Amino acid sequence: MKTKTPKRNLQPRRQSGQRFSGVGKPKKPLNVEKIRKDFPILEQKVHGKPLVYLDNAATTHKPVQVIKTLDRYYREYNSNIHRGIHLLSEKATAAYEGSRLKVQRFLNAADFKEIIFTRGTTEGINLVAQTWGSKNIGPGDEVIVTNMEHHSNIVPWQMLCEEKGALLKVAPIDDSGELILEELWKLLSVKTKLLAVTHVSNALGTVNPILEIIKAAHDKGVKVLVDGAQAIPHMKVDVQELDCDFYVFSGHKIYGPTGIGVLYGKYALLDSMPPYQGGGDMIASVTFEKTLFKKPPYKFEAGTPHIEGVIGLGVALDYVAQIGLANIEAHEGELLLYGTKKLQELSGLKLIGTAPRKAGVLSFTLGEIHPHDIGTILDRQGVAIRAGHHCAQPVMDRFHIPATARASLAVYNTHEEIDALVKAVRRVLEVFG
Ligand SMILES: Cc1ncc(COP(=O)(O)O)c(C=O)c1O
Repeated sequence: MKTKTPKRNLQPRRQSGQRFSGVGKPKKPLNVEKIRKDFPILEQKVHGKPLVYLDNAATTHKPVQVIKTLDRYYREYNSNIHRGIHLLSEKATAAYEGSRLKVQRFLNAADFKEIIFTRGTTEGINLVAQTWGSKNIGPGDEVIVTNMEHHSNIVPWQMLCEEKGALLKVAPIDDSGELILEELWKLLSVKTKLLAVTHVSNALGTVNPILEIIKAAHDKGVKVLVDGAQAIPHMKVDVQELDCDFYVFSGHKIYGPTGIGVLYGKYALLDSMPPYQGGGDMIASVTFEKTLFKKPPYKFEAGTPHIEGVIGLGVALDYVAQIGLANIEAHEGELLLYGTKKLQELSGLKLIGTAPRKAGVLSFTLGEIHPHDIGTILDRQGVAIRAGHHCAQPVMDRFHIPATARASLAVYNTHEEIDALVKAVRRVLEVFG
């Protein structure tokens, strides 16, 4: 498949006050044909039709570079880490810790000790809620989330607030799916201890002006956790420039293995936090009277970790870095513009999420047709999308709908695939007359 030559300006629109470090100008148009060859799963047919995979916000596919890394790990140096004195264990430990350095570089964190491996975004948020939150949030305190959060950035805070007698406040969004910043500013007060906000909305695609938000929160002495699950595959993230206190993401959404994720935290905060789980590898010494814990990041990595997941994630980040996030952002931005235009031409189709600054997501409804029916008919034509509330029920409530159909983009998607999506949606309209 070939991508059409872009006719418009490749740079997605930026909002005022918004900067993404390191994004810069794209160096060259992507050779998507070549990139697609790295993803064997894309070669298959589904229901006799070429697979058009547009469910990337749920999870991305894995390049051969990652697949081979996992295979090699099990064939050649599978071993437990940190504790072995034999060669295989040394190799596994070196690869595991090497990945930590790769993540540090990828996020431009100041120190490798600020990188904690988790099971994913969800676990990263729960870790912060149960350690930092448990220690720092008490009766009468307030935690702010936004109306566009994924359930995993709502429920852990709700549970914490209930337990502590604290209050969960919600920053509203407008009809385009943008945060109403003036309302958010009004919520920030001396009672606010934490703002937990998504960088990019998985249900709407909205890119929040995260730099501006973090600065405003810090001006009021409020700590900020950023849910980066949907930002990390699409744009350069520099945690030092953002100055966020915590940043979390999942490996599987950035071409890495499932079951692995990252929590970045400023070292002083991590150092002040109690451990998350107790067990092997997180201790300095244990007696029945007292246990002494290791320093971060090891304090937060109890038990045998997802070793091959960590190593695979490092390779996935290398893969993305080698393509270049500026190039990825430009390519996906062009597909997003193209898809938005084409879908809007269809009668009865309503895009949910029309913020000026978006990444990777085309969420829509089609008159009275249920999104599950849309998804099923699209699937018969080889087009994989997601239908439902996308673990963001408050977003659906805000737009007074039960669900949307959502096509979401990755680096390997093409203009032809957007055409296939549009054609398949036309078929839905035919079926429902
Ligand atoms: C914005 C956002 N946050 C959090 C999550 C949860 O990620 P995971 O299930 O990998 O922990 C997702 C997953 O879709 C997401 O899109």
